[in-house]
Parts: sequence; C-alpha cells; structure tokens
Amino acid sequence: MINIALPKGRLGEKVYSLLSQIGYKCDEYSKDSRKLIFSDVNGTVSYFWVKPSDVAVYVKLGAADVGVVGKDILEEYEPDVYELADLKMGKCKMCVAARKSFMDDTSAPLRVATKFVHTAEKHFATVGRDIEIIKLNGSIELAPVLGISDVILDIVETGTTLKENDLKIIGKVSDISARLIANKASYKFKRNEVSAVAEKLKEAVKGYD
Ligand code: PRP
Repeated sequence: MINIALPKGRLGEKVYSLLSQIGYKCDEYSKDSRKLIFSDVNGTVSYFWVKPSDVAVYVKLGAADVGVVGKDILEEYEPDVYELADLKMGKCKMCVAARKSFMDDTSAPLRVATKFVHTAEKHFATVGRDIEIIKLNGSIELAPVLGISDVILDIVETGTTLKENDLKIIGKVSDISARLIANKASYKFKRNEVSAVAEKLKEAVKGYD
C-alpha cells in the first residue's frame, strides 16, 4: 500500500488523472465527492486530499509516503523530505513586482509585501538589499497599489493580476512547478513502491516541456 497526498484543486485532479493512467486508479474516486481519503479495492494505493500548502507536512510526518507540492512551498518551508521528480505542471514564476512608476530608493529598506517571507529574505540577502517584510496572506498585489509596500514578491502565472492592477515585473526569483516529494523513511523502507511511482510519473511527463 502506498499513501499519496494530493493538493486539493485543479492541479491535484490533473495529477490524479495522470496517476490513474499509469496504474494507480481508484474506483472510489469521484471528482465531486467531499471524501478526503479514498483507496483502491485491491489495497495498493490510498489518496488524501489536503490543502496545497499542507502536503509537505503530511509527507514529512509520514502520513503520506509521497505527495505533490509546488516548488514555491518547498523553497519557503524547506521541509525535510526528498524531492523526486519535476512533474512539469502548475508552472509559474516567483517574481518581484512593483508599480510602473517604481524607482528604488536605496537609502531606505525596501518594503516587500509577500506571503513567502523566507523566500523573500533569502532572495534579497543574495542581492544584498535591506528589506522590511510586510507579511500578507493573499491579494498581495494590493499592497503597492495602496502604498503599504514598495514591491511584492509573489507568484505570477498568466500575469493578468499584475496587469489589471498596473504592476510590472522587476525581477524573476525562480521558476516554479509541481514536484513529487517523498517521506525519507518511506523512501528507505518502501523503496520499490516509491521509486515505481516516481519513475512512472517521470516517464508520463517526459513530453511536457
Ligand atoms: C496567485 C498569486 C497571484 C495570482 C497570479 O493568487 O498570489 O495573486 O495567483 O496569477 P496570474 O498571474 O495568473 O494573474 P491566488 O489566486 O492563489 O490568490 P491569493 O491572492 O489568495 O494569493
């Protein structure tokens, strides 16, 4: 039996669809169900639907042997898990963005609004810029518009949110995509099952570039 934590939402459904095609199908699965756990009849695989930002917690603590999580979460929380495969889905970029009129005043700390505090601290330490973090939980793009921050550090997918709020990208921090992660003990003691999922998924996403 292998336990797989999937992020609730579109990405998780896409990954489940892929897993079902490569031998991990569950007859119990229903897109509209509110059930959070489902298993196949032969007892070979069990799925948990969890909040995307919690996947790494379930995997780290061993409730799930493997899971699917965005690279943004791995960079922010640096969980003690193995990263086994790039699933080449859920692609986006971590960026620094600002109002179109933004000019950096290097005599003062840069006010950075973000939910990715650790990522922001690492990034601006690398470029040697003093910052002051404004921690928000969503609608980050509002902060520079209302003047409570100079820039934001956030995920950009289509660029629509930036565009519609008159913001522009001023720097890319990293490329983001969904990753398959594994619990360290599962990787050791369920090596065959865990490796099989990883290898089959890698094969299935080969052409996704
Ligand atoms: C994310 C991200 C941006 C937006 C980017 O927000 O924080 O706000 O998507 O997507 P786009 O480039 O395609 O416009 P999310 O929808 O997760 O909501 P949030 O405001 O709660 O973070």
